[in-house]
Amino acid sequence: MKKHPLLTIVALAFLGSTAVFASDVIEDAMKNYHKAPKGTDPTCKKVGAGTATTEDLANLLKSYQAMCGEAPPKGEKDAWVKKCQALIAAIKKVQAKDASGVEDYKKAVNCKACHTDHKPD
Ligand code: HEC
Repeated sequence: MKKHPLLTIVALAFLGSTAVFASDVIEDAMKNYHKAPKGTDPTCKKVGAGTATTEDLANLLKSYQAMCGEAPPKGEKDAWVKKCQALIAAIKKVQAKDASGVEDYKKAVNCKACHTDHKPD
């Protein structure tokens, strides 16, 4: 189906506006799960240590799925979606008690790799 050029422009404008909200979803995910108050372990560290609860994992999964649906504040959307999907796949493996899940997750949750590509300076 051919799209009317005007519709494309409207769609792009809409995507642009959701990107503004996108950062909230991503920032919330970072604050809630990747960073923790001093003296406590962030959820992402608990997953790595194998001490995340069923509830932790469910919340984390929801949060990554929401992130995946957002446009990154910087960088390629495709690359972003791939990184988010790796996180989602790893959490699902951990939930299924697949031993390789934790290793997959530790690789996927590479703070620096993702921030270099997608976090605005
Ligand atoms: C899949 C990609 C990805 C991974 C992995 C990731 N981050 Fe982020 N993080 C981002 C993006 C994108 C932002 C910028 C959000 C914005 O400014 O809208 C961000 C922002 C942040 C912020 C700032 C939040 C704020 O209040 O503005 C903190 C803190 C943070 N990340 C911590 C971490 C830590 C710690 C890790 C590793 C355990 C990590 N992140 C892993 C993508 C990622």
